[in-house]
Amino acid sequence: MTMLLFQIGLAILTILLLKDTCGASVTPDPVFQYIDANQEKFVQRLKEWVVIKSDSSDPSLRNEVHKMMEITAELIKTLGGTAELVDIGLQQLPSGETLKLPSVVLGQIGQDPDKPTLCIYGHTDVQPARKEDGWDTDPYTLTEINGNLYGRGASDDKGQILPWINAAEALQSQELPVNFKFLIEGMEEVGSDGLAELIMKRNQTFFSDVDYIVLADTAWISEKPALTYGARGNCYFLVEVECANRDLHSGSYGGVIHEAMTDLIALLDSLTNSSGHILIPGINEAVAALTDEETKLYSGISFDHEEFRNKIGAQELRQKNKEDVLLQRWRYPSLTIHGIEGAFSGAGTKTVIPAKVIGKFSIRQVPDMDPLQVEKQVIEYLDKKFAELKSPNKMKTTMVIGAKPWLTDPNNKAFHAGRKASKRAFGVEPDLIRVGGTIPIATTLEDVTGKNLIMMPLGGPYDAAHGQNEKISRYNYIEGTKFAAAYAQEFAKL
Ligand SMILES: *[C@@H]1O[C@H](CO)[C@@H](O)[C@H](O)[C@H]1NC(C)=O
Ligand SMILES: *[C@@H]1O[C@H](CO)[C@@H](O)[C@H](O)[C@H]1NC(C)=O
Ligand SMILES: [Zn+2]
Repeated sequence: MTMLLFQIGLAILTILLLKDTCGASVTPDPVFQYIDANQEKFVQRLKEWVVIKSDSSDPSLRNEVHKMMEITAELIKTLGGTAELVDIGLQQLPSGETLKLPSVVLGQIGQDPDKPTLCIYGHTDVQPARKEDGWDTDPYTLTEINGNLYGRGASDDKGQILPWINAAEALQSQELPVNFKFLIEGMEEVGSDGLAELIMKRNQTFFSDVDYIVLADTAWISEKPALTYGARGNCYFLVEVECANRDLHSGSYGGVIHEAMTDLIALLDSLTNSSGHILIPGINEAVAALTDEETKLYSGISFDHEEFRNKIGAQELRQKNKEDVLLQRWRYPSLTIHGIEGAFSGAGTKTVIPAKVIGKFSIRQVPDMDPLQVEKQVIEYLDKKFAELKSPNKMKTTMVIGAKPWLTDPNNKAFHAGRKASKRAFGVEPDLIRVGGTIPIATTLEDVTGKNLIMMPLGGPYDAAHGQNEKISRYNYIEGTKFAAAYAQEFAKL
């Protein structure tokens, strides 16, 4: 009797709990059930992907990247889809040698012309990783510790593209609400060689029936799920100053010649004031004004700027509250001096006057800055500053990267579907965020295909992508799979 009462109580409690997390529905979602029932298989899949050393930066590992693209295509085919391995030609190495670029996978699961089509973009190449770099586990053996799955590519990006493929499998066990297309490359970590050309070539074919593009990469900024609606661009500059035809002895030539390094330091110092404010005319003036609606988005975001500061061991941030830190990271430009090529940087006390030095700095781009304008503004400004030095040396500024920022409307239908999917998969409203980094492929995809894009990160805030002990939590990986499946369903309802 007591047992029966207990069981009835338990059943009522379960119904209440289900009601609470799923809104009106009391029946557990069959797609979510499929994902839970298959989670070991999905983790095993990630393990089989992580074991492949698909480091695109190392020519000696290129065969591993080729293999990675092949098994990516294989998996899509195993699930009943189609997958083409598209040859995108050769890579020119600095040595003059050429190397075959990894093929791009163009895959598809579902071919119903009456259903909308989502195109998922991701990459299966990874950053370098060696145990000796300070990993606690073998970087290419997916290892689970305390609910975290450690391994190179676990978060960036193998563990973020797989949830979409797994979601397609889970949806197929019921009914596919959309057609999935997959655009998966193997050169993302080194600049996506050949990808823009491929997108251009397939614009009228592969991309013609795509309704929306989902970028499956990047990360949340807290333990809360997030949808990303913006990324900064980047303009990278080299400033070269030359004072002699060879390096000189500072005892014999010091004080006699105008040193290139002194000129360069003065030029680099003229770029910002000590508050980090960019002094190049026109840069700050081009920044789009902050709207009230935008300001409201920032206050609701769960982000702890003190924790953020503490994790990196910095003494103090320039901004004093959460909102200002996020605004600076996402929607204002910043200028960073990265290094000086040709300068003495080894240990010890070499007494050299470097003959030629190249200063390197970049400016993160935000709307409404325009890289071509920025190039002009920077060159004019440095020419003027150099003239003020009255130096006889040779100086030249060049822009070597000019990537535009990306921004979309977080109130559009794709974000609406994303918010509903987040509530179903994670039980919470997602944060609407931007990223401070640059994702050139987002602008390329939108500009070429004319389709809109949403970024749906599945990585956690401290997954250490590119670093030692990269991981994704099992929670992010499995619930992220539900998020992807729910997103497809919600998108189809629109
Ligand atoms: C790509 O195709 C779309 C139609 O699907 C078209 O609107 C767009 O202009 C094309 N882009 C280019 C660069 O030709
Ligand atoms: C840097 O420039 C900004 C804008 O003019 C100004 O508000 C700030 O006080 C300056 N910082 C210093 C240290 O001069
Ligand atoms: Zn990535």
